[in-house]
Amino acid sequence: MCGIVGYVGPQQAQGVVIEGLRRLEYRGYDSAGIALVVDGELASDKRAGKLANLEKAVAASPLPPSTTGIGHTRWATHGAPNDVNAHPHTGGARRVALVHNGIIENFAELRDRIEADDHVMLSETDTEVAAQLLELQVESGIDLTTAMQRVCRQLEGAFTLVAIDSHDPSRVVAARRNSPLVVGIGEGENFLGSDVAAFIEHTREAMELGQDQVVTITRDGVEVTDFDGNPSEGKRYHVTWDLSAAEKDGHDWFMRKEIFEQPRAVADSLLGRRTPAGLLHLDEMRLSDDELRDVTKIIIIACGTSFYAGMVAKYAIEHWTRTPVEVELASEFRYRDPILDYSTLVVAISQSGETADTLQAIRHARTQRSKVLAICNTNGSTIPRESDAVIYTHAGPEIGVASTKGFLTQLVACYLLALYVAQVKGTRYGDEITEIVHQLEEMPDHIATVLESAEQVYELARSHLDTRSVLFLGRHAGYPVALEGALKLKELAYIHAEGFAAGELKHGPIALIEEGMPVLCVVPPQGRDQLHEKMISGIQEVRARGARTICLAEEGDTKIEPYADVLIRLPKVPVLLQPLVAIVPLQLFACELATAMGHDVDQPRNLAKSVTVE
Ligand code: F6R
Repeated sequence: MCGIVGYVGPQQAQGVVIEGLRRLEYRGYDSAGIALVVDGELASDKRAGKLANLEKAVAASPLPPSTTGIGHTRWATHGAPNDVNAHPHTGGARRVALVHNGIIENFAELRDRIEADDHVMLSETDTEVAAQLLELQVESGIDLTTAMQRVCRQLEGAFTLVAIDSHDPSRVVAARRNSPLVVGIGEGENFLGSDVAAFIEHTREAMELGQDQVVTITRDGVEVTDFDGNPSEGKRYHVTWDLSAAEKDGHDWFMRKEIFEQPRAVADSLLGRRTPAGLLHLDEMRLSDDELRDVTKIIIIACGTSFYAGMVAKYAIEHWTRTPVEVELASEFRYRDPILDYSTLVVAISQSGETADTLQAIRHARTQRSKVLAICNTNGSTIPRESDAVIYTHAGPEIGVASTKGFLTQLVACYLLALYVAQVKGTRYGDEITEIVHQLEEMPDHIATVLESAEQVYELARSHLDTRSVLFLGRHAGYPVALEGALKLKELAYIHAEGFAAGELKHGPIALIEEGMPVLCVVPPQGRDQLHEKMISGIQEVRARGARTICLAEEGDTKIEPYADVLIRLPKVPVLLQPLVAIVPLQLFACELATAMGHDVDQPRNLAKSVTVE
């Protein structure tokens, strides 16, 4: 995530940049920083923590006047959220300052090259690599725009970069690949921002940039090229949103925005996971391969939505690694005297990294000599700090209290963990792992396809305004999806909702079925043993008792048609990966029904984003 601002014009850049950062703080608040061009030098300040820390610092010790500057508010990916890792980063001679959003996948290789030339890297970030490279280029006598084009050609991954050169106050230069950047076009001044909220108070004329473009803003002009320096064009548009909509990228609620961000969040969570040799590697794996090979049992602990991600993980880990997995609610785990030892790997899943139940559970596991691996979205939070290994999900800040993109990126991290363990233990061949990673890389497009049919789901949701009870059915990896779909509906629409494993129906829950009761059914892909058939039997059973069946089934599944009162199509994907697409219509359903009922979906009643009490 991260928020980025750039400015050149007649106004004092410090005020414009800090104001822009305030509007973008929802994109990340691990640290904030600013850099200005002042009489041939850089003036900068950067502080860990919220923007308020930076504001306090520059109020106490103001930066010199300047009309050219950049700023950044950080959501940490590489490196802890501290002052040193805060952006902007500079080259060794402090001539160039640069801010970055995204992940530079080949940063380790580039860092080694830079260090081999006797340049010292000060931070743990991937960003500093780009700053160093950019400075080396301008020091060779070329302008910042050409330097940016050359550097971008060396970078792999997703990035937005914005830079200034202290020897050239006339321009701010930016580049983008798979990461957001918008130009704000003013009169005698121009702006850059991660989104229009950064400059909407100054101008409503904007320009959207395409992939792999470099943009140079001066007071009087905006020039766009590709990474090879060929002239190119951005797309101009007029911003009609108010400030609050601008922060939400035009959506009415953060939650809806976050649902629509999921293709990007999933793609980001897959970035940088492969070594040049094609092997999977994870973020902070302070566990040796030998330690992992010795693992005889995995226990996953988590709460709420993260727990459901853990349930999906069980199917994947056991299938790909043949290692037994237990999934347990963190709040129950510690109090049942679980059997743990050094050969048990405990996996703690937490979006916030601060959930008290999960934290206490990992502390207990460590007292029993078990190793703990955290899957977490918040760099530097307590749970990853207290764990032996971490896989960070790159969802960016999740502001809506109900987890959406947090869940999808947790699933991605769980699949990666499963494949990593399979690689280390040798339970799957390299080719097979590569094939599954490839399938995972196709998931952002599949999720985007599901989002394209949002209107069908919205209409369906609006036709359920009077509904007081909804059931969700699933089997196999679709069962946790049913549970998560029900949780979303409970917490947002305050409707009674329950998820069941479809096979369990006849053992009791079927008694709940009444004439017209909506039952949402997650239908497994066809051709998976008898799973699909058995699911259809379950659907027939509820339909025969009067239920209205709303079926989520893959494209081309004709067998389901006679049993579905409403059919929502999902892309064809492997059964273990289906949760990544199947949950999306259920999130949209809950979000739309709740908003149509007049509820606040960003802050549902009685809930908190981070539950720091047991
Ligand atoms: C539901 C939701 C919660 C969280 C749970 C765990 O939408 O968001 O159920 O999943 O409180 O939170 P984390 O993942 O931060 O540990």
